[in-house]
Amino acid sequence: MSAEYPNVATWNAATPNAATWNAAAPNVATWNAAAPSAVASNAVAPNGGAQPGFMADPSAEGRFGEFGGMYVPETLVPACQELDRAFRSAWADPTFRAELTDLLTHYAGRPSPITGCDNLSEELGCTVLLKREDLNHTGSHKINNVLGQALLARRMGKTRLVAETGAGQHGVATATAAALFDMECIVYMGTVDIGRQELNVFRMKLLGSEVRAAKSGSQTLKDAVNEAMRHWVSAVESTHYCLGSVMGPHPYPWMVREFNRVIGDEAAQQCAGLLDGGTPDVVVACVGGGSNAAGIFSGFADTDAELVGVEPAGGAAVGRAVPGIVHGSRSYLMQDEWGQVLEAQSISAGLDYPGIGPEHANLAATGRARYEPVTDAEVVEAFQLLARTEGIITALESAHALAWIVRAQDELAGKTVLLNLSGRGDKDVAQMMDVLG
Ligand SMILES: Cc1ncc(COP(=O)(O)O)c(C=O)c1O
Repeated sequence: MSAEYPNVATWNAATPNAATWNAAAPNVATWNAAAPSAVASNAVAPNGGAQPGFMADPSAEGRFGEFGGMYVPETLVPACQELDRAFRSAWADPTFRAELTDLLTHYAGRPSPITGCDNLSEELGCTVLLKREDLNHTGSHKINNVLGQALLARRMGKTRLVAETGAGQHGVATATAAALFDMECIVYMGTVDIGRQELNVFRMKLLGSEVRAAKSGSQTLKDAVNEAMRHWVSAVESTHYCLGSVMGPHPYPWMVREFNRVIGDEAAQQCAGLLDGGTPDVVVACVGGGSNAAGIFSGFADTDAELVGVEPAGGAAVGRAVPGIVHGSRSYLMQDEWGQVLEAQSISAGLDYPGIGPEHANLAATGRARYEPVTDAEVVEAFQLLARTEGIITALESAHALAWIVRAQDELAGKTVLLNLSGRGDKDVAQMMDVLG
């Protein structure tokens, strides 16, 4: 398998910021003592087997099995604890839930449909269904989480949002919510990503947000997270950190999954209608931090459906399966022999991240989900295939999931495969013009 990944040596350049967030905070012991949640640590599922209890709540300390936790500097511990309390209270409050549902329906355009792909299915020899998160307002699944967090931030009395972004989709969604709720918003974005996602940078500015360049390390998503967290430390009283994926310290991995659960809940209901009460054989999603995958998996974790997360070959955290601590939680991440975080490499800015959310690490470790790497070349092929066969220009991130289906078509013959189309490709068209000449 390792032959599929770029040479480790090329990533070995030390990342200046890694140490800051890698270092366990003084009171980490409190969070380390956490008992792994019973379900997660005991259950080992053959992939595809129904295992009740998967994707349930983490332990009180924010652990999914041996992964997760809250590894943050001392100054952030009260902020994470405050957020944990606020989320628990809001999520149990029918008024908050109703307000969020109303926004998701009348502002974001949910439910997103499922599209059956006759042409593509014929070409690949399996039935491909697309969950159309690309049709949401702002063009991806990111709006689900952001509307939830912005509502929560307002409920907590915060007046500012800070966020990181890779492809710009989470940044655009956060800027959108900030405009809607009349909040100040600062988005950190790696200099490299600012270059390849110009359109989204312009959209964020148009929406009234400030975009700040993260110039350290690989100048991509990992570095933007470092900068956003630093900013949060310095302004925690007034500011909510609107983290864009199922990563970071507790409660983020859990909270962001819950805000994206709507994808899986809708899809399970829609599939039951389409498949005579049945479920798809396989559910596939791309994985950066893992929020769109967590969202759709959560609707099928207790069924017989096989769950497949697709990583870029140059950012395959699960492929390497080395646990470590990055950005506030324990999970699988790409690191060198000194524990320094390695730089990911992917054609898609949204997947250019060396880690994966802790719940995915647990799903991989327990065998409930499997994670497969695809190369940039396979992604470019898949991007074109969907445009040509179905008239849908997908985000490069989501094209990873299709690239795996193309590769695995023999294994998938005759099966029903549900693909979470996490975003639309407008943002990637300029980059693909360059790639395809
Ligand atoms: C369209 C799209 N899909 C997927 C991702 C990856 O994020 P996650 O793994 O959290 O879904 C991104 C990130 O920017 C994205 O823009």
